[in-house]
Amino acid sequence: MKTTEIQIREANESDLGDVLEVEKEAFGSEKEAELVNQLLEDESAEPVISLLAFKENEAIGHILFTKATVDSNEVSPSIYILAPLAIKPGYQRQGIGGMLINEGIEKLKDIGVEMVFVLGHEDYYPRHGFKQDAGSLGFAAPYTIPDEHAGAWMVQALTSGGLSEVRGKVRCADALNRPEHWRE
Ligand SMILES: CC(C)(COP(=O)(O)OP(=O)(O)OC[C@H]1O[C@@H](n2cnc3c(N)ncnc32)[C@H](O)[C@@H]1OP(=O)(O)O)[C@@H](O)C(=O)NCCC(=O)NCCS
Repeated sequence: MKTTEIQIREANESDLGDVLEVEKEAFGSEKEAELVNQLLEDESAEPVISLLAFKENEAIGHILFTKATVDSNEVSPSIYILAPLAIKPGYQRQGIGGMLINEGIEKLKDIGVEMVFVLGHEDYYPRHGFKQDAGSLGFAAPYTIPDEHAGAWMVQALTSGGLSEVRGKVRCADALNRPEHWRE
């Protein structure tokens, strides 16, 4: 597929049906759609970055970034969590997930975000600038990640200064702050 056939734009309230449909089809269950629905109403996640990818008029991919903080005695750096990323089954492995990650990262940089975190496939996100095992870099996940999956909790610095000096446990938005969202 030519990448010029794909348009990416911010999702607005009237896109909610498309957003939830993409999530349901990509994951084959309601769980992530429910999470996204909750996160979009969660004040502690604001301001979110919610992007939809379209091919012609069909919504085929969605990515959500929600606000988080680093728990420490010092002022938290500006951080976000990427979750979830969803591409409809017929459109996977064509680079669309990567396009959504890159577009989201540009938007995070535009609003001055310093770091972005993700819990996900260890062989996928490093291709888009994420470093594995954010826990060993000083940023514990909201819930303990078992050692065998430690690499799946990843971080990416978005400023030239690199990772923030302020280290600590990452506190996510309320709707994400449940143990079932932190199991691989
Ligand atoms: C994982 C996902 C978001 C990737 O998006 P995508 O547009 O298909 O990925 P891209 O085309 O940008 O990149 C392709 C690479 O992604 C990886 N990838 C894609 N789907 C994967 C999967 N189900 N498991 C592991 N790796 C996968 C592969 O490394 C692939 O590279 P390859 O084709 O050379 O093997 C998408 O496949 C998806 O929505 N899957 C179902 C939902 C999901 O698991 N979401 C991730 C939450 S962290």
